[in-house]
Amino acid sequence: MGLLDGKVALITGGARGMGAAHVRLFLEEGAQVVFGDVLDEEGKALAEESGATYVHHDVTSLQDWGRAVTTATELHGKLDVLVNNAGILKFRRILDMSPEDFDRVIDVNLKGTWLGIKSVIEPMKAAGRGAIVNISSIEGFIGAEGLSAYSASKFGIRGVTKSAARELARFKIRVNSVHPGAISTSMAMDPEMMQEVDADTFVKSMVIKRFAKPVEVSHVVAFLASDRTSYCTGSEFTIDGGLLTGAGY
Ligand SMILES: NC(=O)c1ccc[n+]([C@@H]2O[C@H](COP(=O)([O-])OP(=O)(O)OC[C@H]3O[C@@H](n4cnc5c(N)ncnc54)[C@H](O)[C@@H]3O)[C@@H](O)[C@H]2O)c1
Repeated sequence: MGLLDGKVALITGGARGMGAAHVRLFLEEGAQVVFGDVLDEEGKALAEESGATYVHHDVTSLQDWGRAVTTATELHGKLDVLVNNAGILKFRRILDMSPEDFDRVIDVNLKGTWLGIKSVIEPMKAAGRGAIVNISSIEGFIGAEGLSAYSASKFGIRGVTKSAARELARFKIRVNSVHPGAISTSMAMDPEMMQEVDADTFVKSMVIKRFAKPVEVSHVVAFLASDRTSYCTGSEFTIDGGLLTGAGY
């Protein structure tokens, strides 16, 4: 028996990186999966290989949200899990960052997450239950040079998560946030960030001295999407190999 047998899940930003790992693990655990992204070529390739359904889905567009949710409910009869995974990182110090770049990071990471919650309430009410997993970051607890917009968006996701958990418990919808540390994806290898960060020193400063594989995050996301966490809502789950140890969290 799979952890997610009988569940219908929508995963955003699923064409590559951690999102793609979530798509694969959710399928393995028995869920029916619809995933979206703006990278159509990668998305279609993953759909063909895995059997999940791909939809073009820009998380900043309410219209795209409508299409993604309808795809899930029409294909599978209901929707009971949302993973708000899509995200972007723009490495720029405040002095050098344009207001437009700041807005873009907030729009995708924070407003995209809020739009997602808003879009799944009715179908989850209809399903009689739901689980929403919002992907924040350890940057949702601490700031970092060059990441003011990213960090603001990830702090914001914690607030949205807790408010939504309070609003939606009456519909049996649980809402939690996940806070990955250093995970081996294209985002973690952002060229502008890599120019400024000494990767060796960073790894030596870790408690578990390595980057994680994306699937190590997927296992926690699947757990939170499952009925095993039926009493968890409004909570924060850190997957950071101990990075925040000593930072007061
Ligand atoms: N890699 C890390 O170390 C790390 C750490 C903490 C948190 N995170 C978070 O994990 C999530 C996944 O990131 P990742 O590391 O897999 O990076 P990634 O860049 O490989 O994946 C992000 C995905 O989101 C998609 N995306 C971007 N803008 C979108 C939009 N407007 N609409 C829909 N999809 C969009 C991208 O096309 C991509 O497929 C992000 O929210 C990120 O902030 C990553």
